[in-house]
Order: sequence, then C-alpha cells, then structure tokens
Amino acid sequence: MKFFIDTANIEQIKEAHDMGILDGVTTNPSLMAKEGITGKENIFAHYKKICEIVHGDVSAEVISTDFDGMIKEAEELVKIHKHIVVKVPMIKDGVKAIKYLSSKGIKTNCTLIFSPGQALLAAKAGATYVSPFIGRLDDISVDGMELIAQLRLIFDNYGFTTQILAASIRHPVHIIQCAEVGADVATCPLSSILALLKHPLTDIGLEKFLADHKAASQKTEKVKV
Ligand code: G3P
Repeated sequence: MKFFIDTANIEQIKEAHDMGILDGVTTNPSLMAKEGITGKENIFAHYKKICEIVHGDVSAEVISTDFDGMIKEAEELVKIHKHIVVKVPMIKDGVKAIKYLSSKGIKTNCTLIFSPGQALLAAKAGATYVSPFIGRLDDISVDGMELIAQLRLIFDNYGFTTQILAASIRHPVHIIQCAEVGADVATCPLSSILALLKHPLTDIGLEKFLADHKAASQKTEKVKV
C-alpha cells in the first residue's frame, strides 16, 4: 500500500519524506487555505515547492465546477510539475473532465467519493485514482471502511486499473484497516502515520536493551581498571 500525506504543510511533508516512507501528497482547497496560501500565483508556487520535495504524485484540486473551467485549470496545473495529478470533484462535469483528461494522458484523482456508484463512474471515465472519504462517512454513522472493501471487489471484478486512494483518514487503525481490505493508497495526516510507530513494549524493550548494554560496558571498564 502506498502512503500519501494529506496536507499542504511543507514541514509535515518534509518530515514524512525524510522518514523514507512517502509515496505522494494530496491537497485540497481547505488544506491550502489552512496554510494561508491564497492567490493563483502563490498557490501554484506552493504546489511546485511540494512537488520538489516528494518523488511521487501530488494531487492539486481544481476550483471550477464546469467542464471548460476544469479543463483550463487542469492544463495550467499540469504545467507546474510532472508530479501533478489533477483532482476533480465527483460531479457530472467532473466525470466528463476525467474522461477528457485521461484521453490526453493526464493523471486524475476523483475526489469526494461517498458511494460505489460514484467510484464506478470515475473508474469508467479513466480516473487514475478515486478518493473515498472514510472519516466523513464514519462521522454520519456509515462504515467508511465498508466502502473501501466494496470498491476493491468491484474494481477487481472488472480489472479496473483505477487506484483506490483512501482519504479522510482520522487515526492509525484506519490505515491498518485500509491495508487489510486492499486500498492501493492511504492518504493520511502526519499524526496518524507517526502513531503507527508507537507501541509501549517497543519503548520498554529499547530501554532495557540500552540499560543492559550500559551496565555490561561499565562492568568491563571496571575489570580493565
Ligand atoms: O483530502 C481530502 C480528505 O482527506 C479530507 O479529510 O479529515 O477533512 O474529512 P477530512
């Protein structure tokens, strides 16, 4: 399973990249706004900065909701860097735009997926990725992980190459469940990635290893004296 980070925060992207486990980045207009990035020039410069850090796909979302607007934005976005994947919302014109862009060899990520039917349409249109939002489904008492499992089954039934990019991940258990049901990618907040590192027995074990090593070294030093 690929690990993407779901943020526009440069420090967090660098931290995940430096660990050597980062395969890509997803952003959205809310995440860009959270970093205070506004205005086309600044937004494009920020995408470029992100693309220069990671060796993988970077999703940049269009703001238009009509076909012509989305295509115009997509054509500008892909000129920023070869890592750019155009993120398009799951609406009728979005599906048309995905079809057009995929015919031109431009990678797309269909976002705001909440049902198998939506994902099927995006896959048929040739989306590179579909982004089902697990956490937001959980928030309304619908099992988000069930959607990931349904998409895995449907895509495998027909050999769709569209990758299932699990989004709206809220905690490390979501990441493990994504790996269990076969998501191709999990895009996660840094906190959820770092939480995977943690186990109390690891901390206790490491403390004991180091204490034993120190005690043995001190004993050897005493014998030498
Ligand atoms: O990238 C979009 C998605 O991950 C949103 O997550 O936490 O705002 O539901 P969240």
